[in-house]
Amino acid sequence: MTFDMYREIIIDHSKNPRNFGTLDKPDGTASAENPSCGDNVDLQYHVDAKKKVLTDIKFTGTGCSLTKAGASVLTEQVKGKSLKDIAGYTDDAFIADLGVPVTPARKKCALLALRTLREQVIKTTQ
Ligand code: FES
Repeated sequence: MTFDMYREIIIDHSKNPRNFGTLDKPDGTASAENPSCGDNVDLQYHVDAKKKVLTDIKFTGTGCSLTKAGASVLTEQVKGKSLKDIAGYTDDAFIADLGVPVTPARKKCALLALRTLREQVIKTTQ
């Protein structure tokens, strides 16, 4: 992948984030902050408790372009997935789905939303 392609994917998702905003009467919320820079992500979601499926998710927050792109791609990937699948969504699998190389130093940016979802939402809804 060229650097231009990398920039295109990240800029596209950070400038036009998918599922950015809030939900009407969410079933739950989760938020996290990256302590090293203060960037944050807030997730709102709906869950079908019977089927144990995440039916909708939106996010807000302030952060670097990689944080925003990570949250944007995450919401696209997990909507409609079972909570079990989301709980097993690994950091490496997500980076692969993100489709761009991420240096170790920037992993905490790209993974902020996934880790928040996995650790807060999934734990409390399973
Ligand atoms: Fe703060 Fe990326 S620089 S999360």
